[in-house]
Amino acid sequence: MSKYKVVLTGTTWPEAYEKLLEQCEVKVWEGPGPIPRDQLLDWLADAEGLFNVGHVKVDKELLDAAPNLRVIAQSSVGYDNIDVEACTRKGVPFGNTPGVLVEATADLTFGLLLSAARRIHEGWELVKAGQWRTVYGTDLYGKTLGIVGLGDIGSAVARRAKACGMNIIYHNRTRRPNDEQEGATYVSFDELLTTSDCIVCLVPLSNHSRGMFSKEQFNKMKPTTYFVNASRGPVVETQALYDALQQNKIAYAALDVTDPEPIPADHPLLSLSNILITPHIGSATYETRNRMANLAAENLLAGLSGKPLPTCVNQSVNYK
Ligand code: DGY
Repeated sequence: MSKYKVVLTGTTWPEAYEKLLEQCEVKVWEGPGPIPRDQLLDWLADAEGLFNVGHVKVDKELLDAAPNLRVIAQSSVGYDNIDVEACTRKGVPFGNTPGVLVEATADLTFGLLLSAARRIHEGWELVKAGQWRTVYGTDLYGKTLGIVGLGDIGSAVARRAKACGMNIIYHNRTRRPNDEQEGATYVSFDELLTTSDCIVCLVPLSNHSRGMFSKEQFNKMKPTTYFVNASRGPVVETQALYDALQQNKIAYAALDVTDPEPIPADHPLLSLSNILITPHIGSATYETRNRMANLAAENLLAGLSGKPLPTCVNQSVNYK
């Protein structure tokens, strides 16, 4: 049996790669840097599957350049780089990797809040500089955590916060049916902004959520607010966040995602003393990234053999 022709836009984890090699002839981009667009479009001319690593943009132009493409799999839960409607129009199913990264991402999100509240990272910097002195933080116990975007990851963050004795409120565009069992109280966005002590943002990036935290929203927060963003950078207007932190309109920000990303070393945000930033590592544990790569490989192989994808975003697609 001849092998499926697949393009891999960057290297993936060995287990997933071995799975692909059993059934596919793989063209893999090994760098340096991201795959050049021309190279990708050229490789896609006869490709049946695209395994997208590194959030390469998938749009109409790319789909037009890939007439034989039958499936796209991406090793992430977020897919703001993918024009899903264009995939559906072309009859190409698209699979992401929900579920498998929930606990790791919740750990990092809550870890950012904890480190910001207790200045763990600042304490370490002081110790390294030979300054053994007290850095004061704030209690999480008894405080109100407002989660914007209570999905699976938000719910896992809420479990961790409850274990620390926090009260949980949340806002979603649509109220979650089981929120009472989860111990999370539904409130309007405005109420969340004005009453939370800590705010965690976990919404996917969309036209609706882009820039949803701007000057107006930061102005409504308490001056003691701790703000965490672990979703996508452009959900927050960077200049507005900078101003809010610099003018002490909020107390502290902890970000796993930025706009721009990567954030340049000379960016004004990095000059502030009330911020903590990690380099988009929400799901970055060995176990989780391995599971994500395996699920992406399963999606790809299912699509290539005309079977439903285990985790398909555009389920209504008419397969080619
Ligand atoms: C995701 O899966 O969307 C994470 O942000 C990693 O990209």
